[in-house]
Amino acid sequence: MPVYDKPMIYYPLSTLIYAGISEILIISTPKDLPLFEDLLGDGTDYGCRFQYAVQEHPNGLAEAFIIGEPFIGDDKVALILGDNIFYGSGLARLLQNNNDPDGGIIYAYWVHDPERYGVVEFNDDGKAISIEEKPEKPKSHFAVPGIYFYDNEVVNIAKNIKPSHRGELEITDVNKEYLNRGKLKVSILDRGTAWLDTGTFQSLMQAAQFVEVIEERQGLKIGSIETAAYEMGLISRDQFIRLAEPLMKSGYGKNLLGLLNDYEGN
Ligand code: G1P
Repeated sequence: MPVYDKPMIYYPLSTLIYAGISEILIISTPKDLPLFEDLLGDGTDYGCRFQYAVQEHPNGLAEAFIIGEPFIGDDKVALILGDNIFYGSGLARLLQNNNDPDGGIIYAYWVHDPERYGVVEFNDDGKAISIEEKPEKPKSHFAVPGIYFYDNEVVNIAKNIKPSHRGELEITDVNKEYLNRGKLKVSILDRGTAWLDTGTFQSLMQAAQFVEVIEERQGLKIGSIETAAYEMGLISRDQFIRLAEPLMKSGYGKNLLGLLNDYEGN
């Protein structure tokens, strides 16, 4: 599934790479997982390690930590949703600063339709006091975007929550548990950051238009894993060129090589 000029999954993958994460477990349906594996391989082309795991049934986001337990081991872990797109100046640094949490770190982003999301409520001191999943009457305009950072406790927490009325292990229930323990940090993503989700036909179209407008104006790429890997020092200049060359026909590869010229001041 493309969003403008690249597969949708490139966007969340590049966000993780910019956050300083290069060991990534990709979880999808039995039908779709082989397609992702075919597209991305084991990640060495991008200086990363990609592994794959099936979620047999749509049992909820928090099941990722149960499916992913062997992959996570004793480490801390981040979760990003495959249909969430993040873009903004300073975002990479913000995520890098938060990628070693003691407890959980989530974000809050002002939207006009919070009832579509997890919603976080703050008190007058700016402290998060409640989180609800898709509330009919949201207590604030702050939605929780689909990127989360946790310490290793998340595996136990995920194993102990119960399915919600929609039959899913909710990520919101994981966050509530961290909140109850006094271990949840909620960081505001300011309006200088674009957070787009592509979960409806309209939002998918809007995301593609957004990417087109910015890319055409700036000549820079949003959500390019090749660029992210190069900028984060995971691949060499030669490898970057090797990745771009087979993609020349669509214009994507040409654009990547153009970027290289720009970086090098040619
Ligand atoms: C999920 C989460 C929700 C979060 C949203 C972000 O919603 O449950 O808390 O705000 O992702 O995209 P879902 O995709 O299940 O509707």
